[in-house]
Amino acid sequence: MPATDLETIVSLCKRRGFIFPAAEIYGGFANTYDYGPLGVELKRNIRDAWWQAMVRERDDVVGLDAALITHPRVWVASGHVATFNDPLVDCKKCHLRWRLDHIEEGQYGPVKRDAAGNVLCPNDGGELTEPRQFNLMFKTQIGTVADDASMAFLPPETAQGIFINFENVVNSMRRKLPFGIAQTRVSFRNEITPGKFIFRTLEFEQMEMEYFCFPPKDRENPAEYLALHKAWIDARLSWYRDTLGIDASRLRVRYHEKEELSHYSAATADVEYLFPWGWGELEGIAARTDFDLTAHGNESGHPLTYFDEETKEHIVPWVIEPAAGLTRTLAVTMLEAYTEEPDEKGENRVVLKFRPNVAPVKLAVLPLSKNEALRPFARKVFDLVRPLWMTQYDETQSIGRRYRRQDEIGTPICITIDFQSVGEGGQPGDEAVTLRDRDTQSQVRVPLSSLVATLRERLPGC
Ligand code: GAP
Repeated sequence: MPATDLETIVSLCKRRGFIFPAAEIYGGFANTYDYGPLGVELKRNIRDAWWQAMVRERDDVVGLDAALITHPRVWVASGHVATFNDPLVDCKKCHLRWRLDHIEEGQYGPVKRDAAGNVLCPNDGGELTEPRQFNLMFKTQIGTVADDASMAFLPPETAQGIFINFENVVNSMRRKLPFGIAQTRVSFRNEITPGKFIFRTLEFEQMEMEYFCFPPKDRENPAEYLALHKAWIDARLSWYRDTLGIDASRLRVRYHEKEELSHYSAATADVEYLFPWGWGELEGIAARTDFDLTAHGNESGHPLTYFDEETKEHIVPWVIEPAAGLTRTLAVTMLEAYTEEPDEKGENRVVLKFRPNVAPVKLAVLPLSKNEALRPFARKVFDLVRPLWMTQYDETQSIGRRYRRQDEIGTPICITIDFQSVGEGGQPGDEAVTLRDRDTQSQVRVPLSSLVATLRERLPGC
């Protein structure tokens, strides 16, 4: 069973060094979080698993790392300056600020209305102000003079950095359609967030890929384009299920209704997860047609086209965009991994049952006690495995407590060194260690000579 309430995860994240509320010593900083020593490893591992599936294991996708501070006209062309807005309302009584669409979607509980049917404040039922459109992009300023010419935006998505580099990638990498460009990066949105931990934050990481293909023969009925869209939805859904190990019963695909679609989109589907508060988006997979390349071609005066060798024509490719949230996926990975069950003694233990590929720490080397006689061999084992896998060395407190500590951070295997390993009373040791499995709690003895080979088998994809 995954965690059923968010508070349990929030407190474990802080206690065990995954995620801390930002700037706590200054009283905190709303909707921002810092990733601690284990959170940074978990985030990196999820990002690497995505990169592995989307770039390294594919012949048709290459990577990119575009500048964060982007030319302001990029955001004019993309439509973000004009339309990347949220409707904000204030309560006239308690003065809390809300997103009207989120209230109407029931994100704060059953919608309260007055006799005339107007939506009321979810907090105290107070009257709300008229909605105001609020642009979500953070502004920043380049240089020392603050005027309109020096103004720039922090990117609210990674996608535009990909579109504006389309021609560079085609020319430098000799790419033929269809092909994709992938990027993982931080994005910024000045959002009113409903306090769901790292689900919606001001600063978050995304993993996006733009897959460029030939325009469909029939633009009104783009069957082959929609089939490609469907193939990407299937591929992405199975990544969450098979690579991250998310239970299929808590994943679903939701196609956007016609009225939800952006004017340029031929279709959009979200991969959703059943969060403790209900279904929420993990990834959007959009069939964006030729909107972005055409828009940047028009705005810059530099057409972004592809030369079709067969027809000898310059065409504007169409695009499928799987856009995932890395930090949101991390929240789901934590929720899914969280388990409470009996330990060896029948007492309750908390275990994070991460797939080994994403577990922040893969191994813990644990001498049975602090006894000096155990240390040289234990350090030898530690030195052998730590260049290969993220490993902790811990000799403080009882072995049972150390197992519990490793269970709670999701370490798949503990390596225990005891007196049988090093020898006792003049008798030589067997130079073997005990491997203790996190999930089954079973133990097996392995000679040092075959330790690395055994661990390679038991830590697939690490
Ligand atoms: N280029 C398309 C795009 O950005 P999106 O649906 O706005 O699409 C993609 O964002 C993913 O980024 C979302 O599915 C979500 O996982 C993540 N995301 C978006 N806003 C977020 C926020 N404020 N905090 C955390 N994750 C966010």
